[in-house]
Amino acid sequence: MALEKLKKTAVVGSGAMGHGIAQLLATAGYEVTMVDVNNELLQKGKEKIKWSLDKFVEKKRIRKEDADATLARINLTTSFEQAGKDIDFAIEAVPENMDLKKKVFSTLDSVAPSHAILASNTSTLSITEMGKATKRPDKVAGMHFFNPAQLMALVEVIKGDSTNQETINTLTELAKKLGKTPVIVRKDVRGFIVNRILGAVFLEAFWSFHRGEATKEGIDASVKYTGGFPMGWFELADFVGLDIAYEVGKILYEAYGERFKPCTEVIEPLVKEKKFGQKTGVGFYDWTKGRPRIPFNLLEEYDVDRSWAVTVNEAAWLIHDDAANPEDIDTGMKLGTYWPSGPCEHADRTGLDVILGKLKELYAKYNMEMYKPCPVLEEYVSKGRTGKKAGRGFY
Ligand SMILES: NC(=O)c1ccc[n+]([C@@H]2O[C@H](COP(=O)([O-])OP(=O)(O)OC[C@H]3O[C@@H](n4cnc5c(N)ncnc54)[C@H](O)[C@@H]3O)[C@@H](O)[C@H]2O)c1
Repeated sequence: MALEKLKKTAVVGSGAMGHGIAQLLATAGYEVTMVDVNNELLQKGKEKIKWSLDKFVEKKRIRKEDADATLARINLTTSFEQAGKDIDFAIEAVPENMDLKKKVFSTLDSVAPSHAILASNTSTLSITEMGKATKRPDKVAGMHFFNPAQLMALVEVIKGDSTNQETINTLTELAKKLGKTPVIVRKDVRGFIVNRILGAVFLEAFWSFHRGEATKEGIDASVKYTGGFPMGWFELADFVGLDIAYEVGKILYEAYGERFKPCTEVIEPLVKEKKFGQKTGVGFYDWTKGRPRIPFNLLEEYDVDRSWAVTVNEAAWLIHDDAANPEDIDTGMKLGTYWPSGPCEHADRTGLDVILGKLKELYAKYNMEMYKPCPVLEEYVSKGRTGKKAGRGFY
């Protein structure tokens, strides 16, 4: 279905992500029906939308009458039948649980017209599997927004094994119409682009800390003040939520094996104590008095090139798997996490041979798969594609 035909939409789940996505759709002029398990949650979701629209009015980013019209385009219901009737597009943002997602997809499939596209906002789960719960797997895809959806510019559009190109094209155009920058994940790989690369960089930091090579404050100081990243890896893990980082870590390990060998000793005890980070007040850091202070004087404790090495390696694996191209990988990391540079452009500037050398050095030292160079990097370097200095690298 072409984007011009898309008029009526539904959002399943009115929580942290669902209400934000509903707001984006309504702002772009679409009729939206939000579905949740009870009216109280739906009302809460709508109140959050109103609060956010009021902020935009206050900051003069939208006019009061447009905010009112946006709010008026949002309907609430607990009935899938009512929500799915006549829709052209639905997206689900229910909790990250495959059985629940499959149930939602099979219900949506039974109530929505056969032409409607059904999308998932999942952070990591298989789009292909969700598609199999429907009779229209060609019209099922991932549309992964970042939190808060109203403000974050990135959307990962994910192709399941049976998703057709028309669906991907329509969702790519839809993301643009919502004011977002879409990146395409061509294969249904776990972690897509952003969470997969973040997973790699977190693990390098966790293992370095676990081996006693650096303190968490030292790693974070080096990453922030020397590396120029907006947050240190421990600070970011706390911000994302250690429960989520832990679950995503397990999924990445299941998907990619030893390359994502979890550093259980570092994260599991905190998760077991329900110290999930910012949202619970404590994680790696104490957040009860605000953002943790990362001491400036530790900025040389950790070698940030190690972070870059595993990051570039994982980007190379994404290319190896034919899951994404360098432009989309770089855009994903810059817009999804505010990195100062994407891994591929960083590698081209630094030299792929230099990155490869670093990985080989780390692999020889620790004998861990996470440092084993991806064949794509080896191949590029052997062909003289060493980056900017050679005129060709990832780009
Ligand atoms: N929170 C984030 O930072 C973030 C970012 C990107 C993607 N995601 C993904 O988005 C999805 C939703 O996450 P969230 O943080 O918004 O969760 P949330 O818990 O805030 O909201 C989920 C909502 O779904 C509702 N729900 C549960 N079962 C339902 C059902 N059967 N029918 C209708 N509604 C139902 C819940 O009542 C709740 O309101 C997950 O897949 C998550 O991985 C989350």
